[in-house]
This record gives sequence, structure tokens and C-alpha cells, in this order.
Amino acid sequence: MHHFDIVTIFPDMFPAVFNDSILKRGQEKKKIAIRIHDLRDYSQDPKRRSVDDRPFGGGPGMLLSAPPLFAAIQKIKGRRKARVIYTSPAGVPFDQKHAKRLTRHNNLIIICGRYEGIDERVKLKCVDEEISIGDYVLTGGEIPAMAIVDAVARLIPGVVGKEDSLKNESFEEDLLEGPHYTRPANFRGLKVPDVLLSGNHEAIKRWRREQAVAKTKKTRPDLLT
Ligand code: ADE
Repeated sequence: MHHFDIVTIFPDMFPAVFNDSILKRGQEKKKIAIRIHDLRDYSQDPKRRSVDDRPFGGGPGMLLSAPPLFAAIQKIKGRRKARVIYTSPAGVPFDQKHAKRLTRHNNLIIICGRYEGIDERVKLKCVDEEISIGDYVLTGGEIPAMAIVDAVARLIPGVVGKEDSLKNESFEEDLLEGPHYTRPANFRGLKVPDVLLSGNHEAIKRWRREQAVAKTKKTRPDLLT
């Protein structure tokens, strides 16, 4: 079983994404376990439940402070070994290879960034990797945490029903997927390419590969270099 533990100040954002569809099934089949932890439960000030503070040296915004994050990570880890991820736009760019690599860890803890970030000492002592999901800035690390869990979990054997469907998808062999068609064969005069109706599996395979290369050349030429 693969465990995903998420530390956030917005725990209510997660159920809609994790408790439906493939990730829901993965949990029911005991292939994955996802737990959401409210950082405020680890506040040093139980009355106000505050977890943030002003940055030393001045400047705008607030930071998630070290004590609640240290406490949360220590509690979640217990005696188990876990890989700790922090989401931030300043992290290493996330991609399919990175997702595959993360499947090697049975315990992932994801700290969702907020405000201007977190106290550097958390990164120094607790965080194994800082990950960005793309070159744009979101309001927090919750959506990135959902994206990372989704991308990693679906690669764990038994989570996606048909293992074969993972083989021909985008980024396998650094190629994007080409076009797909379903019935009707003729829709408002737009016809499905003849080769797909030919029953010639070799020809279909060749055509799909050509289409994938053409699509990659057009939208992501960087993948071909
Ligand atoms: N937090 C805000 N923007 C982010 C991004 N692009 N990736 C990861 N975490 C973030």
C-alpha cells in the first residue's frame, strides 16, 4: 500500500478530488491511502490556531512558521521512513518521469505551501524535494499536491484498471498521443481515417506512431530534441 499524507491549512479542498473516480477506487482497493492533515492542529497556540508569522527583515506577506510544520511532519512520520515534498513555484519542474520516480516511495508527505512560503529551516531539516507543477503562480500548494498525488497514484499497479492503457499514453517514449476516434465513422461529413477501419493492425500501429510524432513536432518540438 502506498501512503500519501498531505499537510495543508485548507483540508476542505481535497475530498472532491480524492473521493471520486479512480483515486476513490484505488483507496477502496487498498492500493493507496490518502490522509489530509490540518496544519492548524499542530499550532503552538491552540486557542488562535495560528500557523503563520511575519518574515524577519521585513517585506510583504506571511510565512508558514517552523514549529507547526516540524510537529506535523514528526507526528505523521512516526517511526516510518517517508519522502517529504514541499510544493512551490520555486521547485524542480514536475514531469512524468518524476512521477514514476516517486512511485518508488511507499510513504509520501506533501507540505502545501501558502502565503510567501515556509521558514527556510523546514526545508533544511525536513524537506527532501521542492516541486513546482509549472511556470505559473497559484494561490497555494493544494492544487499542486492534488496533481502530484493523482499523477503518482495512477502509476501504482492496480489503481488504473487496464494497465495497458498506461503504455500508449502521452510522454511514453517522450511522445504526445495522436488523435482518437469513436463511432459514428462519419459524423457530419467528417470521416474517420480509413486505416483505422482497415483491421490491419500493423498499419494502424504505424499510422498511430506517425501521428504521435507529427503531434509532438507541432505542439512540443522540445520533446524531440
Ligand atoms: N504554489 C504556487 N504555485 C505553485 C506551482 N506552480 N507549483 C507548485 N506549488 C505552487
